[in-house]
Amino acid sequence: LLVSMNEFLPQAKAGKYAVGQFNMNNLEFAQAITEAATELKSPIIFGVSEGALKYMGIEYTVALAEASAKKSGLPIALHLDHGSSFEVAMKCIRAGFSSVMFDGSHYSFEENIRLTKEIVKVAHAMGVSVEGELGTIGGTEDDISHDEASAQLAKPEEALRFYEETKVDALAIAVGTAHGVYKGEVKIHNDIIEKVAAAIPVSIVLHGGSGVPDELIAQAIAAGASKINVNTENQVAGTAAIREVLAKDSKVYDPRKYLTPARNAMIDVVKSKIQLFGSAGKA
Ligand code: G3H
Ligand code: ZN
Repeated sequence: LLVSMNEFLPQAKAGKYAVGQFNMNNLEFAQAITEAATELKSPIIFGVSEGALKYMGIEYTVALAEASAKKSGLPIALHLDHGSSFEVAMKCIRAGFSSVMFDGSHYSFEENIRLTKEIVKVAHAMGVSVEGELGTIGGTEDDISHDEASAQLAKPEEALRFYEETKVDALAIAVGTAHGVYKGEVKIHNDIIEKVAAAIPVSIVLHGGSGVPDELIAQAIAAGASKINVNTENQVAGTAAIREVLAKDSKVYDPRKYLTPARNAMIDVVKSKIQLFGSAGKA
């Protein structure tokens, strides 16, 4: 059974650790994330972007997440990542998602509140958790891209009103991380995390968790982040493993020969993140 993020995020916030959202892009991702979480007894969130949803198909997506929950017995949330509309959120909820994000960061503050609120109203009636977003996270994920200039840090003074009006269950705030492979040095504005975490009772979400030095992640958790999203690092590790196999053997044709090492590489990534986030043993 898939669960809402409210089954584990309040404990994470109170206990000053973070639960990982690992994006799921295919069967091997689902297996790798589940395997790592099972070994370390951690709650986990499967993040599914609209691009991944299109790639896998909604029926396969839900079935993979349900199979993972059934096999592991862990609290697993299936969460729409960066949902762009009420319609997509409703489609996911109807199909069996236990959590959705509405990314209203490209709307005005008032419009973001209005749209997020509409989704929360329906989602909460169905026992589904909702993540909102303040500020604009830089970088690229799927076909959503924001350059450095358009990336906007979250304004801490907006957080309380956003929370009170929308009643979201988690709030993503732009604090300097970016989606995708980093080009420059990462600077996380922990002061913003601290202010927002103190202002509202729900979990603060750090997007763009890939490629951030462990020390900075630890500091962000200490500042109050209790959900951290990772996608790119799994993609990079899995693809590197496949490349290695193909480079060594030009005759290989059985996908299991290169997908097994890819899956193993992702298990290692997820395990190290779970350890770093402090959610091991919390399931
Ligand atoms: O929403 C998903 C995450 O924010 C992905 O971040 O590209 O750094 O893995 P990442
Ligand atoms: Zn993100």
